[in-house]
Amino acid sequence: MKHSATSFEAHARASWPLPEQTLTYFPNARFVPSDRDLGAGATPLGACPARRGAEAAALGADGCRQTRGGVAVADNSNDFGHVPVLLQRCVELLTPALTRYHPDGSEAVLVDATIGAGGHAERFLTELLGLRLIGLDRDPSALDIARARLARFADRVTLVHTRYDGLAAALVESGYAAVESVDAVLFDLGVSSMQLDRAERGFAYARDAPLDMRMDPASPLSAADIVNTYDEAALADILRRYGEERFARRIAAHIVRQRAHTPFTSTAELVALLYQAIPAPARRTGGHPAKRTFQALRIAVNDELNSLRSAIPAALDALTIAGRIVVLAYQSLEDRIVKRLFTDAVASRTPVDLPVELPGHGPRFRSLTHGAERADAAEIERNPRSAAVRLRALQRLEHGVQSQQATGKGDS
Ligand SMILES: C[S@@+](CC[C@H](N)C(=O)[O-])C[C@H]1O[C@@H](n2cnc3c(N)ncnc32)[C@H](O)[C@@H]1O
Repeated sequence: MKHSATSFEAHARASWPLPEQTLTYFPNARFVPSDRDLGAGATPLGACPARRGAEAAALGADGCRQTRGGVAVADNSNDFGHVPVLLQRCVELLTPALTRYHPDGSEAVLVDATIGAGGHAERFLTELLGLRLIGLDRDPSALDIARARLARFADRVTLVHTRYDGLAAALVESGYAAVESVDAVLFDLGVSSMQLDRAERGFAYARDAPLDMRMDPASPLSAADIVNTYDEAALADILRRYGEERFARRIAAHIVRQRAHTPFTSTAELVALLYQAIPAPARRTGGHPAKRTFQALRIAVNDELNSLRSAIPAALDALTIAGRIVVLAYQSLEDRIVKRLFTDAVASRTPVDLPVELPGHGPRFRSLTHGAERADAAEIERNPRSAAVRLRALQRLEHGVQSQQATGKGDS
């Protein structure tokens, strides 16, 4: 199979350093606060804010914790192994679109395009008792977890096994039009902590496992297929473009030499080769020597960037007027795609050489954020996975209205 770079991908380079914990996505986020944390924004033990009935039963969705041995730790029985990121901010941004018809969300539809463990979804369904939710995921085991977690909302939830670029078809399958039919869309990109925790999926370089990395175990291409069959130039291209690996050519050459006598089957074999291929001085800086290669292979195996490039326009088309979209991205290649598509969406379509806006040619969307929003220090401390997040959000405008300024947090 051949891979060819688009000009956009060629320019989509990391604009910030990718910390070690980001690239492994902290499979077991644990929160062990100091005294300082307990007085500075972290929820004190036993002091979770009061919640309404079902939400109280879902303790953990908002980060409240239980004690073990005198310290607070993430309670995996409540967060289903994955702590939702920027949860409160997602609620603030999307709720205005979901409560336009009724304060309890009746008649409104939210698409969670990456339902994962259902953490974000649970919060919306708990707070908005009339809301309907369509949840997508390409990973059937994520859908099983979400189905169990959201069982008490089953009459308001439709789960669809699909890549998110199948969003339009999933809407039609669920009884909605592909265009202008939903009030909000949420994308929380990347892999979940549960996927990383399950060593046999092969996402984590720290654990020996089959060289797989498929988010959907039924999809045809595994990381082993790429490593064992792509030609040297294609391998180097993947490592460079998706992993920003400066030793891409060296690594590709080593892989091709080794697989000629022993094809790769496990993550440990690939990690061992990376130790040989990357020069010792470089191995001592910039985090684990395998992190870039593993990121690159995961993106290639799952066709993550192309999927996102198709999914965002489909999600924008699906929004009703005044509908809203939030995207959480954890690595720069994805965030660049979101940023570019959002920039296009808020741009006027009046030809630049005309002095006035042509009627019907104003922007389709306005931005709800100034640039990308980040997690604050308190959230990063209790959920290190949030360190890398970049949140961007838009609101759909009337057809072709005049240009508007970004409105920032206060407006959401
Ligand atoms: C970060 S997790 C979402 C976690 C969720 N927001 C929560 O709070 O539990 C991302 C999920 O997106 C799914 N995913 C990643 N790429 C996808 C794609 N192209 N199409 C559909 N689902 C995808 C993964 O399988 C994973 O379950």
